[in-house]
This record gives sequence, structure tokens and C-alpha cells, in this order.
Amino acid sequence: MTRGIILDCDPGHDDAVAMLLAWGSPAIELIAVTTVFGNQTIEKTTRNALAVAAVAGIEGVPFARGAERPLVREIETAEATHGESGLDGPSLPPPAIELDRRHAVQLIVEEIMARPPGTVTLVPTAALTNIALAARLEPRIVPRVREVVLMGGAYAGGNWTAAAEFNILIDPEAAHIVFSAGWPVTMVGLDVTHHALATPDVVDRIAALGTPVSRFFEELMTFFRAAYRNTQGFDHPPVHDPVAVAYVIDPAVLSVRPAPVSIELTGTHTRGMTVADLRAPAPPGTRTSVATGIDADRFWGLVTDAIARL
Ligand code: BDR
Ligand code: CA
Repeated sequence: MTRGIILDCDPGHDDAVAMLLAWGSPAIELIAVTTVFGNQTIEKTTRNALAVAAVAGIEGVPFARGAERPLVREIETAEATHGESGLDGPSLPPPAIELDRRHAVQLIVEEIMARPPGTVTLVPTAALTNIALAARLEPRIVPRVREVVLMGGAYAGGNWTAAAEFNILIDPEAAHIVFSAGWPVTMVGLDVTHHALATPDVVDRIAALGTPVSRFFEELMTFFRAAYRNTQGFDHPPVHDPVAVAYVIDPAVLSVRPAPVSIELTGTHTRGMTVADLRAPAPPGTRTSVATGIDADRFWGLVTDAIARL
């Protein structure tokens, strides 16, 4: 049984790996890739998504450009982590496919409404702007979506501020809409993705595949390692976004538990915080869950196998 996903992303080094994992996994039907501002401007994240598609040989999948700014706040990007291009490191090929003519939000709505209920999983790995706009544009998508498995947030401290994770911080109002919509949401946050580290062991194993895609991965990780060392003091870079895709492929990658999650919209020091209530048990009817543990070897096994198939 394959799982149909729409990957909503802002490539971004780890978003690029999420694309490779989704396309290289036989367990995933990649319904569409949609882009949003975030790690860089929408022009750059969209160009990068098309470049990754060219590297990975993604075809027959619509790519659509989405929101260029947050719902309410001013735009903030992550140039220090992802570089001036948003995907610094490898040289990027020109696009091999045309962008879909639809806006990403329109595409998300149409793809969900065209398929049987319960067959589309949304995997956002960036600001939640497109997903929030889609839920507002066509509320009937909410009960039709199987689940939302998103990379973002954290219950135990942030990365962009002491309290907030980047994807949530840059559009907290959108995050509030998505977390409170009523569809099942699994938050794959820093609590687990900070353990999905591209150690030299991992990078060497993938580089040893000796293919153009494995070289692309190695070049991405070389830049990402230096950026994470300089900006956040990590020895090895955490590769956040593919963890959400991996959970859809194989739920045993993560331990997950239900917990109410509220988005802090007004805090003086805590804006963008994902406040998870981990006092057990979660109240009946809780629709949000948080990831609390990761099997990192299992995760990297999936990524390695996927890249080996490309
Ligand atoms: C998240 O922020 C972005 O910079 C990464 O691509 C990832 O989605 C990690 O906080
Ligand atoms: Ca991302």
C-alpha cells in the first residue's frame, strides 16, 4: 500500500533530502510538491525545488509555487543556515520540468478534493502558510485529509529563539490555523530532528553509493555541516525535514504520543512556541500528537535506500 503525500516545502538542504526520500521510496506516491517562502524567498525556494527535481529525475509530479510571505508578519529567511541561494553547496541544474500554472494553495485544494477521502497526507516541512490558506479557502479539505505530518515546533526549546522553532516562528498565525483545524496533526519537532544527525558515518555511507544523487547529497551536507557549526554550534547537522517523510513511510521510526498543542501568538519572549501539554493522559478527542523519540539508524536506513534507488 503506497501513501499519497503532498510535500509542501522551502528547499532548503533538509527539504531537498525530504524530496529525495519521498521520490526514492516505493511506499510513497508523491502527489505534488508545493513551495513556500522560508529558508529563502519564494523565487529561490521554487527554483531550488525544480533543481532538486532535475537532480532526482522527478517527473509526472506537479510542482506549484505558493505563498511569498506570512499571513500577518514580515518575511524572515534563514540565509545563515541555507546560504544566499537557499541551497548553497552543489551547483544547481536548470529546471527540467515546467511549474504548474496553479497557485500551490489551489493545487492542494484540487488534489485533495479530486481524491477519495482519507487518501492524502499533507507533509509540510516549512512555514504553514500554504496549508492554512488551503484550509481557509476550502474547509471541506479538513475532514478529507488523512493526516498532517509536519516538521516544525518543539516541546522542549527552540532553534530560532529560545522558545520557538523556525517554521512555526515565521508564520505563527498559520501554524495556529493548522494545529487547531481538527484534522489529525503529528508534530515532528526539534525534540526528535535534533537526533537525525548527518554524521561522517552517514554521509560516507551514502557517498559510497557513487551516484550523481549521492554526490549531490554529500555536497549539500558539506555546506550544511559548516553552516550548523557556525550558527548553532552543532558538530553534525540535523537533517530535520525527511524525518516527517520517514514517519509516513515507516511509523516505527518515531515514538509519538497524543498531546494538545497551542501556538503562542502573543508571548513577549515565546512567540511561535508550540506549547505541548504532556500531562498524561491527553483529553479525549485530542487531534494533535508530538514525536518524542527517534530510531535514527532506521531513519538513515530509509534515506540511504531511497537515494540508492535514484
Ligand atoms: C526547519 O527550518 C528550516 O530552516 C529547515 O528547512 C527545517 O524545515 C528546522 O527548524
Ligand atoms: Ca524546511
